[in-house]
Amino acid sequence: MRKPVALAHASRLLNHGPTVLVSSAHAGRRNLMAAAWSMPVEFTPPRIAVVIDKSTFTRELVAASGAFAINLPCRAQADLAFTVGSTSGRDAVARGTDKFAEYGIEAFDGPELGLPLVAGCIGWLECRVIAEPHTEQAYDTFFAEVVSAQADARVFEGGKWAFGPENADLHTLHHLGSGVFAVAAEVVRAKPLPGPPKGQS
Ligand SMILES: Cc1cc2nc3c(=O)[nH]c(=O)nc-3n(C[C@H](O)[C@H](O)[C@H](O)COP(=O)(O)O)c2cc1C
Repeated sequence: MRKPVALAHASRLLNHGPTVLVSSAHAGRRNLMAAAWSMPVEFTPPRIAVVIDKSTFTRELVAASGAFAINLPCRAQADLAFTVGSTSGRDAVARGTDKFAEYGIEAFDGPELGLPLVAGCIGWLECRVIAEPHTEQAYDTFFAEVVSAQADARVFEGGKWAFGPENADLHTLHHLGSGVFAVAAEVVRAKPLPGPPKGQS
C-alpha cells in the first residue's frame, strides 16, 4: 500500500495539528488569518513557532507590533477559518474596513496585550515575538513566548482537551488541504505495551 508522495505535499503528512487563527493589531489596524503550521517548541516559559508568509498583511502587523494571538477555532467555525485564510486584510483596509467587520467576526480584548481575540473559539494565546530576524527572513517562521492563555472549560479541563460526543461542535479543526478539515472525533486511551518481563534490562 506504500506509495510515493509529491514533496509539495510532504508537509501534509505531518500537519493536521489544530488549525489556528492568528490575530494581530498595530496602529489602529487589526487582522486575522488562518495558519495550519504552528507548534509548541519550549515548556518553560511556554514558547511556540508559527509560519506567517511574507506576503500576508498579518506579517506586516506582527513585524510592526512584535505580538500576535493564536485563536483555536472549533468545528462550528470551519467556514470562518477557511474564509480568513483565503482573503487578505489588505483588501479590506483598501475598502476602509477589516476582516472582523466584513465577516461579522466578534472580538474581545486579550488580557495581557489587548490583542483582538475571536469570540466562539475554544482557546486563546497571546504571544510576544522573540526577535529572530534571520529565521523570519529565511523561513517565514516566528518564535514567540506565550504571555496569556485561556480555554473554553467545556472542552479543556484539568490541563488537557476533553473531547467527547457531547461537545462535538467544539472540537479542534485539522486542515487536510484545500479547505478540507478533519475534526478530533474520537478519544483513544493508550496503555503501555507488554515489553520485556519485569526485572530484565
Ligand atoms: C486552513 C488554512 C491554513 C493556512 N495556513 C497557513 C500557514 O500556516 N501559514 C501561512 O503563512 N499561511 C497560511 N494560510 C494562508 C493565509 O491564511 C492567507 O494567506 C491569508 O489570506 C493571509 O491573510 P492576511 O493577508 O490578511 O494576513 C492558510 C490558509 C488556510 C485556509
